[in-house]
Amino acid sequence: MLALMKASPKPTPRKPKPAAKLAGSIAARLDRPVVLVGLMGSGKSAVGRRAAKQLGIGFKDSDQLIVEAAGISIAEIFELAGEMKFREMERKTLGNLTLASPQIIATGGGAFCYEATADLLLQNTLTVWLNASPATLLSRIGNTKTRPLLHNGDPLATLTRLDEQRAHLYKKAHIHINTDGLSTYTAMMALLHALDTHLPRQ
Ligand code: S3P
Repeated sequence: MLALMKASPKPTPRKPKPAAKLAGSIAARLDRPVVLVGLMGSGKSAVGRRAAKQLGIGFKDSDQLIVEAAGISIAEIFELAGEMKFREMERKTLGNLTLASPQIIATGGGAFCYEATADLLLQNTLTVWLNASPATLLSRIGNTKTRPLLHNGDPLATLTRLDEQRAHLYKKAHIHINTDGLSTYTAMMALLHALDTHLPRQ
C-alpha cells in the first residue's frame, strides 16, 4: 500500500520577489546616502520611507529632524526666526546626515535650491529629483497648514511659481524621476530601477 502512494513532490524553492531581488543588488552596491529632492508633495518622505524599508537601510527626514531639534514646528521656525534661519538649520542637518552610512534621506522642498546645500549633497550623496506637476503635488499635499510657503490664498499658483523657479535647480540632481500618475509603490519601484541603472555593477 505504502509503495503505491505517490512520493510528495519536493517543495520548489520560492523565487525572491522582483523588488526584493532588485533591492538586495542595490543595497550591496550603495556606498553613499540617497537624497530625495523636489517640491512639496513630490513623495520624498512616503517613497523614501518605503524604499528604505525595501532596501533594509535607514530612513531620515531632514524636516522631521529639524523640528525635533528645535522643539517647534517648521511654520513656527519660519514665523519666529525667519526662512534664512531655517535654511541654515537645513544645511547643518543635511551636512551631518551625509556623514552617516548609506541611507535614504528626504529633504524639505527648498533644501536643494540653496547652493551650499546643493553642493554638499551633489558631492557626497546620490541625489534623486522626484518631479510631478503642480496639480499632482497639490492633490497629494492635502493639508497645507504645515507648509508655511503655502499659507497664501492660492496654493496651486504658489506651487506653479515654485516649480518655474526651482526646476532648473532640481535638474542638477544625478537622477530624475517623474512621479505623475504613480502610486507610492510604483514610484518606489521606479526609484529602485533608476538606482539599479545608475549604480555601477560590481
Ligand atoms: C519647503 C518645503 C517643506 C519644508 C518647508 C519649506 C520648501 O518640506 O521644508 O515648509 O521650501 O519647499 P516638504 O517638501 O517636505 O513639504
